[in-house]
Amino acid sequence: MGAAELAGIDRLAEYAAATAACTRCRLAEGRTQVVFGSGDPSADLMFVGEAPGFHEDKQGVPFVGQAGKLLERLLAGIGLERSDVYIANVLKCRPPGNRDPQPDEIEACEAHLFHQLELIQPLVVATLGNFATKLLSGKPHGITRVHGTPQEATVGSRRVTLYPLFHPAAALYTPRMLQTLEQDFARIPALLEREAPAPAPVIPLPVAAPPVPAPAQAEQLGLF
Ligand code: URA
Repeated sequence: MGAAELAGIDRLAEYAAATAACTRCRLAEGRTQVVFGSGDPSADLMFVGEAPGFHEDKQGVPFVGQAGKLLERLLAGIGLERSDVYIANVLKCRPPGNRDPQPDEIEACEAHLFHQLELIQPLVVATLGNFATKLLSGKPHGITRVHGTPQEATVGSRRVTLYPLFHPAAALYTPRMLQTLEQDFARIPALLEREAPAPAPVIPLPVAAPPVPAPAQAEQLGLF
């Protein structure tokens, strides 16, 4: 791991600590704690959901409820565990009664997500559901239209590949949506491979210079 990557990991931990006291919106009043995000801080693949629910608010970790179990199962289907990826949400605090995020809450919270993206530098960001997809794509198109189609986006100063997916919570009770989600998930490994930086070119080593012949014995003796 390079020094720049290590510095990014430290800065993410510092930023998480600073965010724990956030009061940028009304959700600070009802939360148990800020749910910043979890997983590999230098992951190539990042998931962005909507907002913490009851269990996430209690445990301080995203996607630990029923939708999280499904997300873990989908990850296992492509040979990954949650510790291989980074998982975060559009909102870092639970909306009361799990209602939809409000536009002013998203606006207040978005800088946290953008900063996370800057520090983690994922190659692919899988947006789960409408809220994450619309925020990060900057487009109004709904998830039903754009799921499973990678798109290029600029988030802050970085270009990333967005991969919109149905939200696992929506797929929990809708078998057809679950099937589509599984099919879309199956394309993630190829997408990661496509986005991986090309390996550094192999530069041939210079041909070794011919060995310098050792001076004759008589010359060496002559030095003394
Ligand atoms: N849990 C989360 O952390 N985010 C969601 O969007 C849903 C459940």
